[in-house]
Amino acid sequence: MAETQEKTKNLEKIINVVDFTAAYGETVVIDNITFDVYRGEKFIILGGSGCGKTTLLKHMIGLFRPAKGRILIQGQDIGSAYGVQRIEILKSIGVAYQLGALFGSMTVIENVMLPLEEYTDLSNETMDLVARMKLNLVGLTGSENKMPAELSGGMIKRAALARAMSLDPDILFLDEPSAGLDPITSAELDQLINQLSKSLGITFVIVTHELNSIYNIADRVIMLDKSTKGIIAQGRPEYLRDNSTIPVVQKFFMRKTDEELGTGGSTKHDPAGGRE
Ligand SMILES: Nc1ncnc2c1ncn2[C@@H]1O[C@H](COP(=O)(O)OP(=O)(O)O)[C@@H](O)[C@H]1O
Ligand SMILES: [Mg+2]
Repeated sequence: MAETQEKTKNLEKIINVVDFTAAYGETVVIDNITFDVYRGEKFIILGGSGCGKTTLLKHMIGLFRPAKGRILIQGQDIGSAYGVQRIEILKSIGVAYQLGALFGSMTVIENVMLPLEEYTDLSNETMDLVARMKLNLVGLTGSENKMPAELSGGMIKRAALARAMSLDPDILFLDEPSAGLDPITSAELDQLINQLSKSLGITFVIVTHELNSIYNIADRVIMLDKSTKGIIAQGRPEYLRDNSTIPVVQKFFMRKTDEELGTGGSTKHDPAGGRE
């Protein structure tokens, strides 16, 4: 059922998700999906609430092991890597959940330095310098010594993004980065993601259902579907908007806000025995 518009065949694949199944105990959440992410692209994962977007992301960053199949990050199987190999993969990716989880008892710059302290042997001076550069990249020069509580919602997201970038990742994974932001701040964050993508060539894998963000950011999307536990659509968002014949996909791309997502066909009760 997947709709595809592949303009990217000649590009290098940086992530391969192959025959991948995710389960919690006996409950399968994602059933046998396969897709690739290309180096340098902004790839968006869509789908109704509870369809498995966060589950997929957590497998892609190695928090969970696939029930079946493989996830390769730059050719390395993150589900089975261990020891030094696993650490090397983890150093090549940055992660942020809802871009909000700063440590409240530490300053902004201390938050950004945390991954450097954990994964590198850099001197304090160097870590300080690197963290300042990252904060500069996200427009937070001058806020280094503030506490998270002193920052606006948009600034917290930027600081979390700076922290996720502290190890110069090849790939950044963001789960609902604009959650809780007003539309203007959300659009500014989109702009920042586009800037970082362009200037640094980072590959972004982003879960969001903000339609505006999708059009602002996405090179390609996949849409997960709760009832089939598979990928219901994939391609460029404009292509899906104009060409999809699948009702739930049409409905999503016609909508002006994301509030109703989850009440339509994509999250219908699954008579085939989807357990929750
Ligand atoms: N740790 C967990 N243990 C058991 N079930 C889970 C766990 N995390 C998520 N689920 C279930 O997996 C399904 C997908 O969840 P999730 O990946 O969070 O969806 P989404 O991010 O798309 O809203 C849901 O039915 C959810 O209840
Ligand atoms: Mg989620």
